[in-house]
Formats: sequence, C-alpha cells, structure tokens
Amino acid sequence: MATLTAETDTDKQFIRDWAEARSGAFEASFATRFDEHFPELHRLFLLIYGTHPDGLEALAEVVTLAAESWKQRPADLRLLDAERVADPGWYRSERMLGGVCYVDRYAGSISAVADHIGYFRELGLTYLHLMPLFRCPEGNNDGGYAVSSYRETDPLLGTMDDLAELTPKLRAAGISPVVDFIFNHTSSEHEWARRCVAGDPAYKDFYLIFPDRTMPDAYDRTTREIFPDDHAGSFVQLPDGRWIWSTFYHFQWDLNYANPAVFRAMAGEMLFLANQGIEVLRMDAVAFIWKRLGTSCESLPEAHYLLQAFNRVLRLAAPALIFKSEAIVHPDEVIQYISPGECQISYNPLQMALTWEALATRDARLLSQAIERRHGLPDGTAWVNYVRGHDDIGWTFADEDAAELGINGFEHRRFLNNFYIGRHPGTFARGAAFQENPLTGDARIAGTTASLAGIEAGDAGGEDRVILAHAVAMSTGGMPLLYLGDEVAQLNDYYYRDRPAEAGDSRWVNRPFRPEVAYNARHDTRTTAGRVFTRLRHLLELRGETPEFGGNELTAFHTPHPSVLAYQRPGADHVVLVLANFGDHPVHIEALTLSGFAASAEDLISGGQADLSQGVSLPGHGFRWLRVAR
Ligand code: GLC
Repeated sequence: MATLTAETDTDKQFIRDWAEARSGAFEASFATRFDEHFPELHRLFLLIYGTHPDGLEALAEVVTLAAESWKQRPADLRLLDAERVADPGWYRSERMLGGVCYVDRYAGSISAVADHIGYFRELGLTYLHLMPLFRCPEGNNDGGYAVSSYRETDPLLGTMDDLAELTPKLRAAGISPVVDFIFNHTSSEHEWARRCVAGDPAYKDFYLIFPDRTMPDAYDRTTREIFPDDHAGSFVQLPDGRWIWSTFYHFQWDLNYANPAVFRAMAGEMLFLANQGIEVLRMDAVAFIWKRLGTSCESLPEAHYLLQAFNRVLRLAAPALIFKSEAIVHPDEVIQYISPGECQISYNPLQMALTWEALATRDARLLSQAIERRHGLPDGTAWVNYVRGHDDIGWTFADEDAAELGINGFEHRRFLNNFYIGRHPGTFARGAAFQENPLTGDARIAGTTASLAGIEAGDAGGEDRVILAHAVAMSTGGMPLLYLGDEVAQLNDYYYRDRPAEAGDSRWVNRPFRPEVAYNARHDTRTTAGRVFTRLRHLLELRGETPEFGGNELTAFHTPHPSVLAYQRPGADHVVLVLANFGDHPVHIEALTLSGFAASAEDLISGGQADLSQGVSLPGHGFRWLRVAR
C-alpha cells in the first residue's frame, strides 16, 4: 500500500528492485528500454493513479509483467522488434495494404486462414485483421466483441496453438497479423465479471456496479446511447437488482480503469497477445474507457493517458507492436488519439463517411473540405483509409464544417440515412438502418460496398462507384484497408435475419460469408466480380509502385467543379495530382485551372501521357492519377 511520488528516481529504484525480486535480474536490453521509457510511464501513472493508495505497487507489478513477458518473448519476435525499432515508420509505406475478415466466414477456422495466403499475396496484402477470435458467449456475442477470455480462442475457430502456428506463416508471407484489443469491456461471462458480481474482494472494483438508479441516472444525463435497440442509457440491471455499466450490449460490461488492478490485468492480456505474434492491436472503442460524472464519458483526458501507458508498456516488452485507434467520434476527437506515443495508426472514419456522402450528393465539397483541413497528422503516424468496415457507417462529420457550406448537419444526416436505407426516391443504394433511435432521430446505416454503391440495385454507375471509392482510399495516404470480399463486389447478406443470434443486429447484412463464386470468377471480366477485381487489382499494383502515395503528405487542390475532388500527393521530385469526379456526368477541367502544373503528365492508370494544356476530362465517376514534375 503506497502511493506514487513525484520523485521519479526514487520510485524507479523501488520498482526495479521489486520487479527484479520477482522476475529475476533485468536482461540488458530490457534494462536499457526500462531506463528510456520508465520516466514517461511513471508520469502517466501519476496522472491516472497519482492519488490511488496502491499506485506504486500497481506500477511495480506492471513492470514485473513486462520484464517476465520479455523473458518469454520468442526469438523470432525479438528479431522483429529490432527490425521495427530500426524502421519505425514501416506502416507508412505505399506498399502497405490491409485486409479484414471474419475467421469463420472467410476461412472456416484459424488454421484454414493459411489456405488463403496465396490469394492474399496475389492481392498484395501486408496486414490482415482477423476479427475477434476469442472465447465469447454463445448466441449473440456482438461478433466476438464480448470476450470471455483473452487467452483462449473460440473453440469453434480453433485453438491458441493454431493461432501461434498461423502468425509466423503470415509473417513469412509479408503479412502483419492484427487482432482486436477489446479492452473497454469484457463479456459478462469473463471470469473477472463472474467474480466481481459474486463479491470476490480482488475483483470487486473491476466493473462499475451501483446499488440503485441514483448514480446511473446521474451519469445517463450526459452520456449518449450507443446501442439503444438493446437498452436505454449506459446501464443494465443485474438479476440481484444492482446496475452495471454497459455501453454496448447488455452482456458487455465496461471495465473500471479507475482501479489500477484493471490496468495491470489488461496489460497482462495485452502482453500475452503480443507474444502470440500479433503485430498490430486494433484498440477497440477507445473513446469510452474513462468515465467522469457530468461529462459525456467519451474521449476524456484519462482515456489518452491510459492508451499512452499501454503503449509504453509495449515499448518495454514488445517494441514491434503498434496500436490502431478505433475512435468513431467527432473529427476533433478522432485526431487526439493519433500520435507515435498513443495510437500510431487510426481509422479515418470521416473520410470514409464523406466518400459515401459525396457519392449520394454527387457533390464532393464536404469531402474536399475534410481532406484539406482534417487530413494532417503528427509525424510518424498514418491513417487507415477504408471504404467500409464490419460496422455501420455513421455520419460523424462536424456540423460546423457542414454549416460553412450551407449544409444543415441534422437535415443532411436524415437525407443520407434515407438515401442509403433505400428510402430516398431514385436512390441507387440498398442498405439497412442500424440503431434507428426514434427518440433522437439518430440512425446509422449498414451494407456492403457493392450494395451501397448501386451494384445490387443494378444501377449503371454501381461498378464505377466501387472503384472510385477505393481509388480515393488508396491515394489519400496512409494504409488502405479492404473489407475482404468487397474486391469481388460481394452483395448484402439478408439471411442474417434467419439466424437468431444475428437477427437483431443489422450490421450482419454487411458481413457476408466468403463469396466463393465471385472469387472463382475474379479473372473473368464478363462478370461484375471479374471487372471490379481486375480494376481494383490494377489500382493496387499501381499504388504500390507510386512512392508519392506513401506517407501522409497531401496538398489540397481546387477546381471550379463541385463534383470534383482534387488533391496533390507530393513526392521527391514529382507530384501526383488526383482528380475524381463524384458526379454522374462528365466534366472538363479547363487548362487554366491546371496551369500551375507542367503540361506533360504521366497518366498512371492508362500508362500513357496526358497534356494538361488541353485540360482534363473526367467521365461520370471517373478519376485520374497524374504524375507531374514539381
Ligand atoms: C467496436 C466494434 C463493434 C463493437 C463495439 C463494441 O465499435 O467495431 O463491432 O460492437 O466496438 O465492442
């Protein structure tokens, strides 16, 4: 029982002695990293747990865990650590390409993922996010986002040994294995949860439980409802009448990070995953991990300190690993999670949502504004640009940004929801509503890329829209992330409604099984799958050969056409100018608009030359990647 002090060196000596007494003498390389990273870890712990009576022991135990975990770290992963430390920006390369899939739906089992490595190489994947594969409750488990054990896999998918066998195979193929770190909550069946509810003193404060509605009502006054279809507010009632914090489904209980024992326990699970050969942890639901009465309980400063502290723990014990932030919140908040010391990479939900916004409106101004203003990132970090993920699409643009263009955010979201749910007259989209809340009018939408873009509806522009959306995600910088199956134009899966565990969650409409038939047709350009695949494959290949597309540097470019999105990707001695037309009709960009560039450009997609002194014509949904000398 001791608190941390402001005397970093005193605490450091105490902690080192404590850890070495338990885990043996520090290895030399660990000791070096301990010297380098301890002061920052200590500073963060002081900020989070400075007044906690167990703060000092908690940090000592975290360091002990790190030292033990390093001792157990396999030799091949230590080599990887050294490589990554020598090349810290590895994930910013133009050759990076991410894929995401469900193990069961895509491959059948963890071991069977290896059968697809040949295809992943054909596609050029360098990063593979396997959706949650841990033990979870039967029936609805939020697609595995309700974890009952971080050290056991879902037996239906295979075993931890299967995972340990798969990760080196992926790595040998140049593919970084990625899994979720679902650390905001556990399932109600996790051992910590069972013990907490049963009153075990060691787990009593692991979750947020209140005897009656007084505190839940007080918190609910300022928090937002995330899954209103499941329950109102942020709490659910236990069979004994008490109330427990559940931001998401009623069986996903939020952990209480105000208790340092929770941090220590989760750090242990994180280090365990690190030593299974995972290279990127997708930090799930980061915005929600710290609560304070009277606030939205989202994106509080402590949420950042916690992430930074977890990140430092990795620097000690598994330096190869990086974090990807999943913050689907206001763009001002999304950016706060991204820094080399917090999450090195992050989903770019704003660009994703506004790509769909531009496709619906045929007007790229809001997207252009976001790319001009909200694209910049700290050095050493990168966006993960995606056309859609496994979740719903929420319209997370800033109302104040929209207002500058004369757009009313509230009305515009209603329009977009109606458009993508298929309720708007003349819409090309076939999507489903997700968590439509009649009390607030709020809703999000779900659907596969092909179905949302018009292929399902048989719209003539459908295929071009799929390509256009991906072409933007591939050329704005950072890493593009494909939802596997979208590259062969998979359609919505309406059969989820017949599967009881999924029927209540419309996001399953956009999580279809691996589309075998479409994959078999991928080289046959008489089919939709073949045309979409062939075109995307070509773009992916070009991207990998275009150094200007690496990193995150981007300069805006303006044309007088509201339907045209334009930007420049500067390289060493050339610039790639991207012009993309979100309209249904052709546009001609006049020579005058392009007069700042040399006349002669390399047209990357056609492989020919373009003469900018003649202007550039773009068909409806057409785009160009033009390389010009700087
Ligand atoms: C993330 C996941 C989502 C899940 C939620 C709760 O947002 O992407 O699928 O429902 O976290 O874990």
